[in-house]
Amino acid sequence: AAEPLVLGIETSCDETGIGIVRGRTLLSNTIASSMDEHARYGGVVPEVAARAHLEALQPTIEAALAEAGVALDELDAIAVTSGPGLAGALMVGVGAAKALAVSLGKPLYAVNHLVGHIAADLLAGDEVEYPTVALLVSGGHTSLLLVRDLVSDVELLGETMDDAAGEAFDKIARILGLPYPGGPQIDRAAATGDPTAIRFPRGLSRASDMAEHRYDFSFSGLKTAVARWVEQAEAAGGDVSIGDVAASFREAVVDVLVTKALDACARHDVPRLLLGGGVIANRRLREVALARAEAAGVAVRIPPLSLCTDNGAMIAALAAQLIMSGRRPSTLAFGADSTLPV
Ligand code: KG4
Ligand code: ZN
Repeated sequence: AAEPLVLGIETSCDETGIGIVRGRTLLSNTIASSMDEHARYGGVVPEVAARAHLEALQPTIEAALAEAGVALDELDAIAVTSGPGLAGALMVGVGAAKALAVSLGKPLYAVNHLVGHIAADLLAGDEVEYPTVALLVSGGHTSLLLVRDLVSDVELLGETMDDAAGEAFDKIARILGLPYPGGPQIDRAAATGDPTAIRFPRGLSRASDMAEHRYDFSFSGLKTAVARWVEQAEAAGGDVSIGDVAASFREAVVDVLVTKALDACARHDVPRLLLGGGVIANRRLREVALARAEAAGVAVRIPPLSLCTDNGAMIAALAAQLIMSGRRPSTLAFGADSTLPV
């Protein structure tokens, strides 16, 4: 098909995402999130997420079809995230996708979640150019990729060795007594603080880290440093300025993310940087990325936030590209793979 009509299913974390695209045209992007159910735990609980996907899938599929004005039998293909992500959550989407594809007699495409984030940019409307470096930052992953070709040549340059960037925001928010999800809360608190008040560590940024971990991230040392700083400030009986801690913490995360992403651009001679994932909602991250990229002669692309956070449309968009490039469908032999490589 010249412009295949594809339904994409995304259930790798806490968003049940169903998207419908025709080629690069977005017809619907429907999301049900179980974030509220995780709030009381301060983070995503895998079993809760899996059960929520089971409940949300059918109504979300129906809503997406209605919004797109498409009937199931018109679809050219079904696409699904097979990994990486939470195993139990992935399994719900994979099972549903197989059932749909078999019952409708349609081809099925199993795709990688991270590559899906890169494909989201296709739906933003304007011309997309490769190669590009991509920085994907969310509650579930923090990855730096080199994309020479979306369907055939995506290389993982590095990723987090411990917490994801969004997870770090969520954990620091908890230390500061702010509710989940922590990212927006820290962003708000930081607006009243001084980002230079406290010098928190930048993980894996020493000269000695460059050989093995130049493009990798680590946020656990930063988390410990913030916790210790707050503890000591409280023990000393002083006032802890939540604004200063939030702003200084945010600056440390943003600095290391942008520095490593632009380093990857420079060393691979790639003048383009694509940003994706829910942490892109962070105002300071966008501001610093845009300013430093401009100074370095790197063009930054940031898809609309609804396409940056986990969604099914990006999964459908990726499958549409695979179909248009002649890729054969997946057989039913694939399963959910929580550590699926790109
Ligand atoms: O991509 P996303 O919606 O989904 C999952 O990873 O499940 O990302 C959610 C993550 C959460 O950790 C949240 O705290 C973080 O993105 N986040 C932010 C901001 N808004 C959301 N982090 C920093 N600053 C923000 N403004
Ligand atoms: Zn994601």
